[in-house]
Amino acid sequence: MTESILVTGATGTVGQHVVAALSDRAVSIKVGVRDPETVSTEIADAGEVIAFDFTKPETWGRALRDVDRMFLVRPPVVDKSKIGEFVEAADRQGVARVVYLSTLGAEKNVLIPHHWIENRITATNMEYTLLRASFFMQNLSEVHRRDVVDHDEIFVPAGSGKTSFVDARDLGEAAAVVLTESGHANKAYELTGPEALDYGAVATIFSDVLDRSITYPQPSLLAFATRMRRRGEPLGFIALMCGIYTTARVGLAGRVTGDSRRLLGRHPRQVRAFVEDYAAEFQTGGDAYTRNQP
Ligand SMILES: NC(=O)c1ccc[n+]([C@@H]2O[C@H](COP(=O)([O-])OP(=O)(O)OC[C@H]3O[C@@H](n4cnc5c(N)ncnc54)[C@H](OP(=O)(O)O)[C@@H]3O)[C@@H](O)[C@H]2O)c1
Repeated sequence: MTESILVTGATGTVGQHVVAALSDRAVSIKVGVRDPETVSTEIADAGEVIAFDFTKPETWGRALRDVDRMFLVRPPVVDKSKIGEFVEAADRQGVARVVYLSTLGAEKNVLIPHHWIENRITATNMEYTLLRASFFMQNLSEVHRRDVVDHDEIFVPAGSGKTSFVDARDLGEAAAVVLTESGHANKAYELTGPEALDYGAVATIFSDVLDRSITYPQPSLLAFATRMRRRGEPLGFIALMCGIYTTARVGLAGRVTGDSRRLLGRHPRQVRAFVEDYAAEFQTGGDAYTRNQP
């Protein structure tokens, strides 16, 4: 019988690529979104679209009905307790396997919600696969796109620290592998890109590919926070970003692993390939600015 897979966060940075990658496989896809009316045709055509909200338990029953496996994303705006309750509901409803989008280092950092959620998941009867992802390359095209477009700058307070950027498209493919193939039960993978780069090196790649000078002025935390605030970003989001870039600044974001290559059966994408593929978004006068929170 065809397996039924529920994808949460399907309109998000990673979820959209999970749906795309699953579409090539012999599974039935259930897409849980808050507003089914607004999903793209790619998502609508991929499977059954149903109304689902982590904060509305009345939507969970239909979302979980007859589901064998699920891809779980914690939207940054949703309290971890709601995710924990949803995980327990999935277990009760007989979901056999959960694949959770977590973050690199979640097992050690007791302060972050991912640590708590991972523990909720591993305490259930469900098989689990934890995808501990490094910093998404797509943050550059979502959160920081305007700095490149308007100021020809990469404006993040990461000092000279290196980051093992991973492409969300590779995360989507890796998720499809562990959702549909055997051998990944009760495992955690650390998904990074193939290289660790500092933002000076990233700016050089942008300059080469876009054929104009993009600089990395190494802003302080204060200068970064001030610009984000002037742009109207919420304080909580700015604080989160400062925490993430401090981790990079102190040298804790640069670990490169072979897990992406092993799951994908090829080398994961490099930052240069990402900038080449997304170049149109960084041209001045390009598409409207969009932000997704990490
Ligand atoms: N950015 C990074 O570098 C990074 C690195 C490692 C891990 N992560 C983790 O990745 C996760 C975010 O993944 P992402 O960037 O792919 O997501 P995203 O682009 O931020 O999108 C969030 C998704 O959640 C959905 N959503 C929001 N509120 C919801 C609710 N109340 N109920 C149901 N769905 C809701 C949104 O769908 P609708 O609005 O359409 O309903 C959207 O599809 C976070 O947990 C973050 O910590 C991020």
